[in-house]
Parts: sequence; C-alpha cells; structure tokens
Amino acid sequence: MEEKEESLDFLSRIVPPEILKVKPYIPGKPIEEVKRELGISRVIKLASNENSLGPAPKAIQAIYQYASKIHFYPDGGCYYLKKDLAEHTGVDPGNIIVGNGSDEIVSMLTRVFIQKGDEAIMGDPSFLMYKIDTQLSQGKVVCVPLKESRLDVSAMREAITSRTKLIFISNPNNPTGTIVTERELKELVQTIPPDVLLVCDEAYYEYVDSPDYPDTVSWVKEGKNIIVLRTFSKIYGLAGLRIGYGIARKGIVSLLNRVRPPFNVNSLAQVAARAGLKDRAHLVKSKRLIQEGKKFLYAKLEEMGIEFVPTQANFILIKVGGKTESVINTLLKKGIIVRGMEAYNLPHHIRLTIGTQEENEIFIREFQEALR
Ligand SMILES: Cc1ncc(COP(=O)(O)O)c(C=O)c1O
Repeated sequence: MEEKEESLDFLSRIVPPEILKVKPYIPGKPIEEVKRELGISRVIKLASNENSLGPAPKAIQAIYQYASKIHFYPDGGCYYLKKDLAEHTGVDPGNIIVGNGSDEIVSMLTRVFIQKGDEAIMGDPSFLMYKIDTQLSQGKVVCVPLKESRLDVSAMREAITSRTKLIFISNPNNPTGTIVTERELKELVQTIPPDVLLVCDEAYYEYVDSPDYPDTVSWVKEGKNIIVLRTFSKIYGLAGLRIGYGIARKGIVSLLNRVRPPFNVNSLAQVAARAGLKDRAHLVKSKRLIQEGKKFLYAKLEEMGIEFVPTQANFILIKVGGKTESVINTLLKKGIIVRGMEAYNLPHHIRLTIGTQEENEIFIREFQEALR
C-alpha cells in the first residue's frame, strides 16, 4: 500500500521555507515486497550502483566477530579506521573525516560552508544530494550543463562569483560515468580563489581505468582547498552499513568535525570498513566484473543500436527514448529494477548498474523484449 504524505498543517508556518521546498526522498520498495506484489521469486536490482558480488567477505567476517560488542557505543573518533585509511591513502589520520555514508559528508560541507545566498556550483546532471543539501542551507544552486556528457570544468570555473563557496566535481560523474581529467582539474585547482572549496567526490574511483584520472590526494598533501570524498558503498559492497570518508587539510577536517554528530558511524561499519580495505581479492574481482560486464553490455547495446555513454564507473547511462517509462515498468514486472532518470532531467534515459554476467545477460534479454 502506498503511504500518502500527511497534509501540512499550521506547523508548516514555523518551519523554514527551505525545508518546505525540499521534496522528501521517496525510497524504492524493498526487494521482498516487489517479489510479493509481482508474484515472482527473482529480483535483480541494478538501480543504485551497488556491488552485485556482495560485500567483501572479510568485512562479513569482521561483522560476525564484532557482533557481541554492539551494546557499546561506537568509537566516535573512528580511531583505528582513520589510522588504516591514513596508511591506505598516504595522509595523516588528522586529514580524514568519516561519515555515515559519504553523503553525510556532503551535508556537513553545505552546513559548514553555505550560508543564506552563498553559491554552490555543480554539473547538470550530477549527484542529486549536492543540490538538496545546498538548498537546505539556503544556498543558491548554480547548475552548469554538461558538455558531451562530461562536466564542463572551464564553464564551472567561469561560474565562480564572490558568493561561491563550494564546487562539486563528481568524478566519475553520476549519472554519466564520465571523468574529469588530471589536466582539466589541475587548471581549476591552480586558479580557484582561496575562499572556494573544491569537493572531489570519488565514490566510484576504484573502478576508473583511465590513465588521465587525477591524483587528487596529492593536491590535499600540497595544502590546496580541496576535499576528496570516497565511499565503502560501491566497490567494497557495504552500502547498507553507511560509511564513507573525506580527505582534506586538517583545518577543513576540524571545521567539519564541529557539525559531525558524535557517534555518526556505527561500530559494525567501522570494523567492516577496516576489513574491507584489506580484502584485496574482493576488490580485484569486483573491478574485473565491471570491466568484463562493460565489454559485454557495450557490444550488446551497439548491436541493438542503442545509444549509451561509455563509463568509468560501475553503471551505464543508456538512452532508451520515448518509451522509457514503459520499458522501466516492463522490466520491473520481470523482476529487473533499473533507475529512471527523470529526477536528473533525463526522462529518456535509464541508468543501469553493471551486474554479474548472468544478471547482465538477463537484463539484455528482457530489455530487447521490452523494446519490442
Ligand atoms: C557520486 C556519488 N557520491 C556519493 C554517493 C553516496 O554514497 P554513500 O553511500 O557513501 O553515501 C553516491 C551514491 O550513489 C554517488 O553516486
């Protein structure tokens, strides 16, 4: 049964207008409910760019081992995890902030840096939370259209005004999967005003193959105004635990710590993330899965004459055309969930998470059928 939102009563008068403007996030139905409603036993979820191989096995083990200790509050400072992440990325633990998902760090950033009327520059389309969090801080969203499905870094540079506080670079960009190159980003880093912070969101960075991908952590080490965001939700397969991290100058981390809730990252997420970092075999296998899946899907889509954007991430933006909504619904009836792109102003596209070989084959078969 669909839950209707209760009509807003007098309470809406005491709520700031920016809260009223935001549309509440509408979660997808749980997989079990989709199965029950459609009377099907198999559901393939290729909608949220999760890892189809599942969590890193070492992370699962760590969760079992830690389970008997969850009556304790988590370590609010993520002491051991920060130490491991520091070693992993070549910075100091003081350069790291851990969030309840990297999207919590996006919220901390807008909370700290955006006041009423301040501007945040982002690509259009790009990850939706940049917009929502900026609006919640009463900031002005400055959208810069993509150029040939890629973030237009020089246009983003030109969009900087005296009110600009943040520039969001989703690299690879969600939903296009394209990257900004070292050369393009370096130009921006070198010319950005000192009172603007560059946010390099690298949620999919482990999947990138391109030799032109920037080494942003080296700019953090040089003391530039940049924060690099990474996550355990994608290649590590820990999306359900909610854990991601940011790497930045110590001063920036210290500012973010002022708005960070004291126990924002739960204990199981911390131990799983530490173990996940050490699970090299899972990482390699997951990356290979995407490389092979990409090849298969590209070949099939080309055969079908379907337009798509070549990707550096674990998802592909596919142009379906005028029938997109009906294709999404037909796929859903067959138990295949893909992401419609209306919220990104791309109503004729879907975003497909690359799955296992079996899942990709089933998708292609049902996609061909749905297009007929
Ligand atoms: C570009 C980008 N950044 C951040 C996130 C959020 O990741 P997390 O699960 O760490 O909050 C996503 C999730 O889809 C994403 O696509």
